Amino acid sequence: MAEDLFEAAKSAMAKAYAPYSRFPVGAALRTEDGQVHSGCNIENASYPEGWCAETTALGHLIMGGGGKVAEVAVVAEKMERIMPCGGCRQRLSEFVTEDAVLHLCTTEGVVESVPFSSIFPRGFDLEQNR
Ligand code: THU
Repeated sequence: MAEDLFEAAKSAMAKAYAPYSRFPVGAALRTEDGQVHSGCNIENASYPEGWCAETTALGHLIMGGGGKVAEVAVVAEKMERIMPCGGCRQRLSEFVTEDAVLHLCTTEGVVESVPFSSIFPRGFDLEQNR
């Protein structure tokens, strides 16, 4: 089941606009009701203005009607088991379910799945500090 999410992330990676880092990344999110939204990193000549694949995927989630994210997959052709950066963990934390899972990938598929809560405990939250 996670393999289709991996495939969505890998397809997104193929669209990466990463001429400066040459480090393409793809991310895919599955909502509780089964919708999949994906994204790639989009860089800019003004380097700090670029953004991550996870952030593009979140934009598609919102524009696609939103919902809670139950699964996340991220893939990078030049890094096995890439982890979302700190900023993307914070962004994702606002949309994930309590038991959401992060799938770590190689270019071949999912190799490990971990609870999102284990990679981002006690994030900034205006409602309560987890
Ligand atoms: N990048 C992502 O897309 N997601 C991450 O979680 C880490 C880093 C991108 C940002 C930049 O375009 C490239 O990878 C190199 O840092």
